[in-house]
Amino acid sequence: MNAKKDAKQTFTLTDNRSGQKYELPVVSGSMGPDVIDVRRLYNDTNCFTYDPGFTSTGSCGSKITYIDGDNGVLLYRGYPVDQLADNSDFPEVCYLLLYGELPTPDQKKKFEHDITYHTMLNEQLTYFFRGFRRDAHPMAVMCGVVGALSAFYHDSTDISDPKHRMIASYRLIAKMPTIAAMAYKFSMGQPFQYPLNDLTFAENFLHMMFGTPCEEYKVSPVLSKAIDRILILHADHEQNASTSTVRLAGSSGANPFACISAGIASLWGPAHGGANEAVLNMLEEIGDAKNIPEYVDRAKKKDDPFRLMGFGHRVYKNFDPRAKVMEKICHEVLNDLKIEDEPLLDIAVELERIALEDDYFIEKKLYPNVDFYSGIIFKALGIPTSLFTVLFAVARTVGWVAQWNEMIEDPSQKIGRPRQLYIGETARKFKPLHKRI
Ligand code: ACO
Repeated sequence: MNAKKDAKQTFTLTDNRSGQKYELPVVSGSMGPDVIDVRRLYNDTNCFTYDPGFTSTGSCGSKITYIDGDNGVLLYRGYPVDQLADNSDFPEVCYLLLYGELPTPDQKKKFEHDITYHTMLNEQLTYFFRGFRRDAHPMAVMCGVVGALSAFYHDSTDISDPKHRMIASYRLIAKMPTIAAMAYKFSMGQPFQYPLNDLTFAENFLHMMFGTPCEEYKVSPVLSKAIDRILILHADHEQNASTSTVRLAGSSGANPFACISAGIASLWGPAHGGANEAVLNMLEEIGDAKNIPEYVDRAKKKDDPFRLMGFGHRVYKNFDPRAKVMEKICHEVLNDLKIEDEPLLDIAVELERIALEDDYFIEKKLYPNVDFYSGIIFKALGIPTSLFTVLFAVARTVGWVAQWNEMIEDPSQKIGRPRQLYIGETARKFKPLHKRI
């Protein structure tokens, strides 16, 4: 990793129990806060650090994504995400995340060709889908099917071989939209739509989702452009819960398909990627702008587990730059689709206004995150609510595989193995059953 280790920069730790002082190295990245290197801490002090939720812990060095949460900055390989969303397209961003540079025209053409020719699934996998209940949540189907890919693509599971790793990465990026669309078609009882090689990544996804064998499906350029931009905004987000899950699973040497399946499981939670589905459910539950104050009050109550979904972020304490672009896309899509009256958008706009003026949200620095507007866009595009998080997973797959590849190539990588503060019983003698009364 390209971190600067300045011998003069240290952090002094004093053990007040013994008066002993320890010098810990301070390491600087190319941007962002320095880190205190605590790798020798346990050896030297016989103490671990304690950091539930990893709020103060850097788990790795990475060159992929940079976030400055105080200033609302998100860069992929140095490029601001809003510039990419406005000027680039999803395959180009995939290339950037995987290889570190934007592609030349020839590289882009080849990459798009290679991804396109990996979109089809092994036909045997269609039977796997049939084993699920029709009313299964598509995220449950996705976890299962993606994990099962390792049983079908043995020729790309040798993680020590860079070629295998790249083939597996291409396969995952290419096949995720196919799997997502198949999960949807299965839930609808409609026949699966095979990918079409003359369509773009976003167009193909819409074709597989909404096309039927009965008539030609004409992909709307407005919809495909919106999907493409949403994919860009969700493509990577440094060491969030699902990415850390992928890295942790991969640190044991597990195959990439199993690791991405683990990432999908983590993404599903409502505190993470599941929030886009939860936002829409919440807006529907609020039902009318006049009910907003009641929900805002509930969100502030300590004894009420209700939270405003789509608000707050572990890292962004000013604004989420993705939410800004998302809000813009939302208005564009509704305009393009000539949806003038979208009650949920009206509720969302009013909720945002009320929350942003409320002392509780101001003090705790809670702002709308990327998921606040994405649900409304997906709804306008005709995507069913249960598929919102699936779409997030389709987009995030490239981030997951880029981070997974980076981890395997990192010479300082070790199996992830946090320690704990044990607060249970001390050693005690076994009591036979007849004496436990
Ligand atoms: N509504 C009301 N209060 C909130 C909210 C919210 N959405 N988010 C945080 N808070 C409060 C907490 O109750 C806590 O209050 P306290 O200090 O009095 O205990 C304080 O703000 C800090 O919150 P934490 O949960 O400690 O912050 P953390 O960084 O652990 O959580 C999270 C971040 C999970 C995103 C949280 O803000 C949340 O649950 N938001 C709603 C779910 C959501 O939108 N998730 C999507 C995140 S973006 C993504 O994953 C793509």
